[in-house]
Amino acid sequence: MPQSIPATLIPGDGIGPEIVDATVAVLAALGAPFQWDTQVAGLDGVKTAGDPLPPKTIDSIKRTRLALKGPLETPSGGGYRSSNVRLREQFKLYANLRPARTLIPGGRFDNIDLVVVRENLEGLYIGHEHYIQIDDDPHAVAMATGINTRQGSRRLLEFAFEHAVATGRKKVTIVHKANIMKALTGIFLETGLELYERKYQGRFALDTVIIDACAMKLVLDPWQFDVLVTTNLFGDILSDLVAGLVGGLGMTPGANIGADAAIFEAVHGSAPDIAGKGLANPIALMLAAAMMLEHCHLPHMAARLRTAIEQTLNVDKARTGDLGGHTSTAEFTRALIKRIADG
Ligand code: NAI
Repeated sequence: MPQSIPATLIPGDGIGPEIVDATVAVLAALGAPFQWDTQVAGLDGVKTAGDPLPPKTIDSIKRTRLALKGPLETPSGGGYRSSNVRLREQFKLYANLRPARTLIPGGRFDNIDLVVVRENLEGLYIGHEHYIQIDDDPHAVAMATGINTRQGSRRLLEFAFEHAVATGRKKVTIVHKANIMKALTGIFLETGLELYERKYQGRFALDTVIIDACAMKLVLDPWQFDVLVTTNLFGDILSDLVAGLVGGLGMTPGANIGADAAIFEAVHGSAPDIAGKGLANPIALMLAAAMMLEHCHLPHMAARLRTAIEQTLNVDKARTGDLGGHTSTAEFTRALIKRIADG
């Protein structure tokens, strides 16, 4: 095991500091060798450094190429751009990886084990939008341009295919809308089919599905899917859909993987309604930490963490309010650390 792995830690806003503290304590109990460099961003960045993404924070991630971050709020006034979008662009975080796995049995959908791989930098989210004025209506026409490139599609699809091989997945489904957006999502589909044929045939099964049919199939029979790979907008929607299948955003981690860094986070936001009350569910960020351990080639530690989370939830029945329980963030974390120590 490496002696120490430098990593940037961003507590973030709202419940961020609470769930980050809990996650750092759990990682310490596991003996994870992260050497944290704590930096600010979001509202916290504006308050303490006058910038939602201060240069010191960017420099830290440039150095460590690895970060665990709490949710960030974008200040509404002042013309600030989202720190999350800036991080994505700055570090070319082209792949967003969102696994969704059932942790509490007996829910509406049992035994879910899916991964959504979303392209994070291109498509309809590039922000090329404008209005055209007609007569006295300045917003008479709204226009948006989407851009998908062969190179951007290929690098994301390659990431998804490699992930499927490395994690022993049986099937990858390319989700598209090439029947209508023939160029914009057709290029993604075409690139995926070509890449599979050239390099991955026989290593897993490949399937393709149109986004609207995919949404219906995910609700009727999610078990038919394994890995879903898709463009930015569709991926954004589908990853929340699959989070809903396993109990909501409090249970869903996300990884943003790029050419220059990897940033791990919970999928949910800063939950201002419960911030500072000790009620937050820290599991999503802890599962993000498990992904970070895997990224750092520490899969056994990641497996220990996941097992301990499942035992704390299902054997100790320690559950926060969003899961119908009464356990506080601190009590859950203590129970989890005990499970790690006993395990
Ligand atoms: P949110 O995810 O913060 O909250 C939605 C609902 O889920 C709230 O009722 C909240 O209490 C609950 N919730 C969320 N996480 C929870 C947890 N771990 N435990 C228990 N309950 C939890 O979404 P919202 O309210 O739309 O966004 C709040 C702020 O967060 C906004 O400023 C938004 O821009 C930011 N945000 C940041 C993200 C990031 O940094 N990755 C992602 C999403 C939102």
